[in-house]
Amino acid sequence: MANLKTTYMGFELKNPIIVGSSGLTNSVENVIEVEKNGAGAVVLKSLFEEQILQETSKAISADIHGNSYPEALDYISNYSKESAVGNYLNLIRDCKKAVKIPVIASINCVSSSEWIGFAARIQEAGADGLELNIFILPSDPRQSGEANEQTYIDIIQNIQKVVTIPIAVKLSYYFSGLAKTALTLSWTGISAMVLFNRFFSPDIDINTFEIKPSHIFSTPKELSVSLRWVAMLSSRLHCDVAASTGIHDGEAVIKQLLAGAKAVQVSSVLYKNGFGEIKQMLSTIEKWMDKHQFKSIADFNGKMSIKETDNPAAYERVQFMKYFSGIE
Ligand SMILES: Cc1cc2nc3c(=O)[nH]c(=O)nc-3n(C[C@H](O)[C@H](O)[C@H](O)COP(=O)(O)O)c2cc1C
Repeated sequence: MANLKTTYMGFELKNPIIVGSSGLTNSVENVIEVEKNGAGAVVLKSLFEEQILQETSKAISADIHGNSYPEALDYISNYSKESAVGNYLNLIRDCKKAVKIPVIASINCVSSSEWIGFAARIQEAGADGLELNIFILPSDPRQSGEANEQTYIDIIQNIQKVVTIPIAVKLSYYFSGLAKTALTLSWTGISAMVLFNRFFSPDIDINTFEIKPSHIFSTPKELSVSLRWVAMLSSRLHCDVAASTGIHDGEAVIKQLLAGAKAVQVSSVLYKNGFGEIKQMLSTIEKWMDKHQFKSIADFNGKMSIKETDNPAAYERVQFMKYFSGIE
């Protein structure tokens, strides 16, 4: 019987399927379902930097009033119980009581400002790890690529000053030098890198002249972007790699493990098909491992990475030439 155990961020996971951060991981009931359906770990819905900043400023003003009105202390504690930030800390505590799989908290951040101290409260609440969902769209023409990348490093290093739990960084591929940036970030001492996040993308309604969201959920066709970069980077980075985007079945998980990912994160397929899909994916992986007589993930993990494959050029190739695509 195939053994699906893997290690990721220093945790031993019973299998490589992690339920990625989304609205599906925003309640303890769902996190219990995630575990029941067999996932190896869960990343909670991101808390947003703006939420932390907003609530910090509200708490400060409440505290000032607290000097004159003793009952303000009650207000602050009630307020924080009801606030988004308080709710998030409660979600971590409740999930930790309810499940045994690693519970990874997530913060969406765009700056290395004073909100960072808040990460210590996430650790105190019991999160096993912290995923930093960092995305700074390089849309400011006055900002150099280097300055943009420095912000990522500053965020990581400032967070490292306040927490000791393992940190993962979830990235987009909007970098002028993606490979170098990923390598530099992996040297900061982070435990893992998630390649890649998938973001809100705008579309235009040509009748109402409004901007609307397009394609909220991924499709299996989107697998190839992360597959290429996982294959090209997994053996070069100084941290674990988790693959994300377009993983909709067990075969896609196998491909990412072959490319060198230690784990994968899934969201869209679970929105579409429900948490039961995790079991299907696990069953596909097990059958495939049995068929190929792989006893453990380590037996084939990274076998098709750029370092191990006998055709590394296939990952570097970007132009359609008849020789490679079979189509003129
Ligand atoms: C509705 C929705 C909400 C999401 N919210 C978050 C979030 O709060 N934080 C985050 O890091 N990623 C978020 N994601 C991104 C997913 O975690 C995942 O990286 C992305 O959807 C690609 O994986 P998939 O192809 O399996 O969906 C969200 C995705 C969806 C569809």
